[in-house]
Amino acid sequence: MSPHTELSIASVLARARPRLDPEAGGEAEILLAHVLGKTRTWLHTWPERVLTAEEQAAFEGLLQRRLVGEPIAYLVGTRAFWSLDLTVTGDTLIPRPETELLVEQALAFIPAEAEWALADLGTGSGAIALALARERPRCRITATDRSSSALAVARGNAARLGLGNLEFREGAWYEPLADERFQMIVSNPPYIAVGDRHLAEGDLRFEPRSALASGPEGLDDLRLITAGARTHLHAGGWLLLEHGYDQGAAVRALLDDNGLVDVRSVRDTLGHERATLGRAPGVDL
Ligand SMILES: C[S@@+](CC[C@H](N)C(=O)[O-])C[C@H]1O[C@@H](n2cnc3c(N)ncnc32)[C@H](O)[C@@H]1O
Repeated sequence: MSPHTELSIASVLARARPRLDPEAGGEAEILLAHVLGKTRTWLHTWPERVLTAEEQAAFEGLLQRRLVGEPIAYLVGTRAFWSLDLTVTGDTLIPRPETELLVEQALAFIPAEAEWALADLGTGSGAIALALARERPRCRITATDRSSSALAVARGNAARLGLGNLEFREGAWYEPLADERFQMIVSNPPYIAVGDRHLAEGDLRFEPRSALASGPEGLDDLRLITAGARTHLHAGGWLLLEHGYDQGAAVRALLDDNGLVDVRSVRDTLGHERATLGRAPGVDL
């Protein structure tokens, strides 16, 4: 065993910071706080606390993984989404802030006391389904995914958050829903074109390809979900889809072609069309 140099929190952080991206600020503290099971404030309160050899080794291990680009969320195993702290693993997409737009839009249509049946297709860590379950406790949410390992993470999140008004089912898009109908279907499906160079860059390199890429234009899964929507929506029921910043027109056309009405796209904080929605014809809900 190599001799252990006694290093304090302050000195370990001072050595680590210049090795990390200065733009990303605070990453060294996030990783060290994770290793010690403490908050960043605690690190500032106890800068002279000396690390054990095991703590130093664990921190150095995380630092090495970060230096090759592994996302912070995978290193610490959590990501904040909506008002929830979610467990994430390499089997799940890391929930994105822009997906909160889909949650906001969904909530705008669901009355506070509604007892609707909602479906979240391709739930990943459960982000959208869990946010809706928390905000609309009288609704019943069915969350599906083709990945059993992602579903295990989503189920764990639901249990840890104490949310019981949802269930998880494994299978491709509508297949696990049999002939059930819903007042609302939401989905953030894979929508990146398979040849897109971004798949080989940044965080995307570490996320499951099956959560990201969808055919030559990124539209294959959006097409399948839109095509099946009317069979699974009650009259007047809503379909809400997240998509790429440049896919708004294509997704509106898919909803129009499949007979949905009141079709429109919604812009994210950067002004990009980021979600498209429409409803099945018939009575208002
Ligand atoms: C972009 S991720 C979204 C995850 C989560 N809803 C979120 O917003 O963070 C897409 C998800 O769809 C799932 N998926 C991909 N193809 C699928 C299919 N054919 N049927 C069901 N789920 C699928 C992936 O496993 C992944 O969890």
